[in-house]
Amino acid sequence: EEVIEAGSTPTVGAPAAPPQTRTVTVLFASQTGNAQKLAQNIGAELQTQGLEVEVASMAKFKPNNLKKVEDVLIVASTNGEGEPPDNALGFHEFLYSKRAPKLDHVRFAVLALGDTSYEFYCKTGHDFNNRFLELGAQALLPIVECDVDYEEPAAKWFTDVKQVLATATETTAASSQETSSPATAVEYTRNKPFAAEIVEKINLNMTGSNKHTTHLEISLENSGITYEPGDSLGIVPKNNEQLVDALIATLKFDASKTVPTGDTTQTLRDALINHYEITVLSKPLLQKIAEFTTHSDFQNIVTQTSVKDFVYGRDLLDIAESYGPFSWTEEQFVSLLRKIPGRLYSISSAQSAVDEEVHVTIGRVGYEAYGRERFGVASTQVADQLEIGDTVNVYVHKNPNFKLPAEDKPVIMIGPGTGIAPFRSFLQEREETGATGESWLFFGEQHFVTDFLYQTELQAWLANGTLTNLHVAFSRDTDQKVYVQHRMQEQAEELYKWLQNGAYIYVCGDEKHMAKDVEQTLIDIVATQGNLSQEQASAYIKQLQQDERYLRDVY
Ligand code: 2AM
Repeated sequence: EEVIEAGSTPTVGAPAAPPQTRTVTVLFASQTGNAQKLAQNIGAELQTQGLEVEVASMAKFKPNNLKKVEDVLIVASTNGEGEPPDNALGFHEFLYSKRAPKLDHVRFAVLALGDTSYEFYCKTGHDFNNRFLELGAQALLPIVECDVDYEEPAAKWFTDVKQVLATATETTAASSQETSSPATAVEYTRNKPFAAEIVEKINLNMTGSNKHTTHLEISLENSGITYEPGDSLGIVPKNNEQLVDALIATLKFDASKTVPTGDTTQTLRDALINHYEITVLSKPLLQKIAEFTTHSDFQNIVTQTSVKDFVYGRDLLDIAESYGPFSWTEEQFVSLLRKIPGRLYSISSAQSAVDEEVHVTIGRVGYEAYGRERFGVASTQVADQLEIGDTVNVYVHKNPNFKLPAEDKPVIMIGPGTGIAPFRSFLQEREETGATGESWLFFGEQHFVTDFLYQTELQAWLANGTLTNLHVAFSRDTDQKVYVQHRMQEQAEELYKWLQNGAYIYVCGDEKHMAKDVEQTLIDIVATQGNLSQEQASAYIKQLQQDERYLRDVY
């Protein structure tokens, strides 16, 4: 199968004999909203060109309609371990089942979003691309992959898609009026963040805790930035100066050398602090580095099929220290690096309550590996370096998939650790707007005394009725670990009643362990309480997901 690298030109995809008009169906598989936004944008643009367009979430799209679709554009992101986003699970499973129809009548193109620092880069996009081909559909363009900085390759894909569709539908396109792009309001993005002032900073953990959780209040005054509960705040971090200096020294580079940084230039030192990613390794990066060293160990590492274990806990300084000498110049070196990605944090405030402010709740990440302390770039900068009065570069990332339901609907929120963040936002919003729906929070942490995040606020909400039920699980206060899912299990009967009464269920926090265990517990509860088999209970939960009543913000 052919893959287009971000930014290159397609070589295949000449469309078949053009029919008069073809409907374009734009389907998105989106977890945090990026793919959804891109799908909606391209849908809107194609419409202005006079094409018949339908944009749909894969959760909402009826698989039977595949028999009727003509041109299909798929924008698909991939979850951490290569799974499809929640809104695409059902459609993905259907496509790969025996029930999937032949698609010889279909032409399609896929835009795959991913992150090169994960092993299964863009896998979901490839899954859809491969399966459409297997089912007989014709590719309008080869699949395009994009890394976290997706804007440019996505824009290029838009242009190619529009071109290929326009040639195929010349008659209709010609009759459409001149297209003019609508005036856009100032929007702060990863590439153009807002320099916001920190107005409050508190460590939510007490002395003696194993954790360090920063509650940050940031002023959005004069930015015009707005957000809704469920959205995230992007923070563009800076790299640690000591780490940058050590890297420059090890590579025997000149720190004051001027190097390109996007549209401008900076000194190497500034560029490595502000612009480039130096703490995350990926297979594509190692492959590029391999061209500049003859170290035989390094060549072996790169040719191994999975470099996942190697890159874990290592950064560029480890490479610089162990696998030189390197033949690169300062400029060649930075040309291998990607721009430092923004880190997304679930917003923990509601604008109805805090006005021109935004709050986030950030756990500090730190561990030791290969004899050196390793730090989460953004979380450590926030916890240890930024102070009240400093500015931080931020932007809002809308998440249309993690929203409060109508004000009278019951909500069940499961958020251990920093997973509590969006639920503080939900509760602020529900209190401020006088929502009538019941609400139930499950929170967990290590110790009651040191780690009960937002304890006073939660208890006040419980007292004034904003919060109907609160169940907490402190895992290290007793001999036996107690987790949120154990509390859920204890409340099985009541919980099932809530679900049967139309409750929405939200999960936020650790994806790999917590979210998986919580899901299994939900299935168990539904099976026992509803007298269903595991398969039926699992289908019940899948249906909730399909109905967008089981929503996750996990990482
Ligand atoms: P532990 O660290 O004592 O194992 C927030 O980090 C809370 O989530 C902690 O109390 C942590 O417990 C707990 N936790 C760890 N693994 C979990 C899992 N698989 N499911 C639910 N909670 C978990």
